[in-house]
Amino acid sequence: MSEVEVVLRSARETIGFGRFLADRLRPGDVLLLFGDLGSGKTTFVQGLAEGLDVREPVTSPTFVMIKTYHGRLPLYHMDLFRLSEGEDLGFLEYFEGDGVSAVEWPEAAEAYWPAEALRLYFDGAGESTRTVRVRATGARWSPLLEAIGDAYLGR
Ligand SMILES: Nc1ncnc2c1ncn2[C@@H]1O[C@H](COP(=O)(O)OP(=O)(O)O)[C@@H](O)[C@H]1O
Ligand SMILES: [Mg+2]
Repeated sequence: MSEVEVVLRSARETIGFGRFLADRLRPGDVLLLFGDLGSGKTTFVQGLAEGLDVREPVTSPTFVMIKTYHGRLPLYHMDLFRLSEGEDLGFLEYFEGDGVSAVEWPEAAEAYWPAEALRLYFDGAGESTRTVRVRATGARWSPLLEAIGDAYLGR
């Protein structure tokens, strides 16, 4: 398991970080977004969507738990805040699809996530800076963690 930490000083930077990752994603990638309400998860997904050339605005779904956005790659935005423990929304079919999955509140479905998912832990609230710890295992992500390190560390 390796890890890098990114500091984001504004919502604009959180979006920028989403765009940075979007440029480096491939079909089947799964991003798990941990963190409290207000820590910047949806803002990050808005950046992902911009980077994937999605034209529609990304919102926080209240009743729909999975929304597909159509860009250069499909983006499956999941918000599982209201998921019952262990409930399966057909996650595997999304992971095996042509798109990338970005999952808010992934805790409730831990058993379904692939071992090689990228895990992002958001911290911070209100007007203050956000930190994001990015953790991954496996060969898929090590070049990406290195790229994040090069772009974001020591700024
Ligand atoms: N790096 C940041 N610095 C300051 N505010 C931020 C940052 N990133 C996001 N925000 C703001 O935090 C608020 C909550 O963000 P949101 O993405 O909805 O959080 P979550 O989806 O984790 O509940 C938004 O008003 C957003 O503009
Ligand atoms: Mg959210």
